[in-house]
Amino acid sequence: MKNSYSNISNFNKKILEKAIKKLKNKDIVGLPTETVYGLGGNAYSKNSIKKIFRLKGRPQTNPLIIHYYDLRYVFNDVIINNYFKVLYKKFCPGPITFVLKKNKNSKIDSKAVANLNTVAIRFPKHKVIRSILKKIKFPLAMPSANKSSKVSPVNSNDVFEEFKQKIKLIINGGKCKIGIESTVIDLTDHPKVLRPGIISQNQIEKALKIKLRKSFKNKKLISPGMMKKHYSPGIPVLTNQKRHDGKSAFIYLGNKHKSKRKFFSLSKNSNLTEAAANLYKIFRLVKKRGFMKIQIAKIPKFGIGEAINDRINRASRFK
Ligand code: TXA
Ligand code: MG
Repeated sequence: MKNSYSNISNFNKKILEKAIKKLKNKDIVGLPTETVYGLGGNAYSKNSIKKIFRLKGRPQTNPLIIHYYDLRYVFNDVIINNYFKVLYKKFCPGPITFVLKKNKNSKIDSKAVANLNTVAIRFPKHKVIRSILKKIKFPLAMPSANKSSKVSPVNSNDVFEEFKQKIKLIINGGKCKIGIESTVIDLTDHPKVLRPGIISQNQIEKALKIKLRKSFKNKKLISPGMMKKHYSPGIPVLTNQKRHDGKSAFIYLGNKHKSKRKFFSLSKNSNLTEAAANLYKIFRLVKKRGFMKIQIAKIPKFGIGEAINDRINRASRFK
């Protein structure tokens, strides 16, 4: 595929070397993962971290996820426990992020973790990011590659739309298979999900053989990603909609509506995994088509539906 923009490059050996060189030089690179595209930078470099926060317009209080190839460099940065060992073995590399206590000797820049004494770590699966992580001697701090509070990008052109030429290299690794951000689980105490994702609470409970704590009842803002307004397409989003108002973009599951002009199906056969993968793509498309409002039909809340509802509800808080 020919890339439409000059700073987007297809993945090959030369681009791999170029990306590594940039990361070593404390530059920021747009990179694909299996969940969403990220803005990668050296987690040990103050300068790189500063650039990430500045590019995203991200509040200093919102910590970044630190990405690793495998366990090699992890021990110096965090204190692991048995919950982590079980979940790592079962799900990694993959779309899950673990919050653990920070090791005192950790070289992670303190601003990257918003001066907290915990670190969120992840082992992404996408082959592009893995081939980069394998070849560098530092982990990558990598938030989703969108402006703060906006919709995460699921292909390289989305990243370009967000940052234009402000980042010098975006690697095209195709469309993200999963399409929503990783599950974030806090393992510093009795495990609890902070951000639902494709790996569901149920799967985690099965692996750990325990019931997780309900995090949503916790009043304290433990994960700043739980900020109410987030993943916003920039136009009003109404949830649990029954009837089309005649002018808004109507997003739903199934194939009931034949007209494709105003009706957008997340999945023709109501498959929730497919629906998650299409959600952000459809948000962007609708915005581009000039709709002023989005109506979303009720989406089941079980399994992956929990993560979809989480994103939709946050998107709906845009005023
Ligand atoms: O799938 C993903 O996780 C993507 C890809 C690029 O890896 N990354 C991503 O990063 O979604 P970001 O920065 O958009 O979201 C990170 C989430 C935020 O909700 C943040 O508050 C939470 O992780 N987080 C990071 N460090 C944390 C910590 N120490 N304690 C609690 N929550 C933390
Ligand atoms: Mg994000």
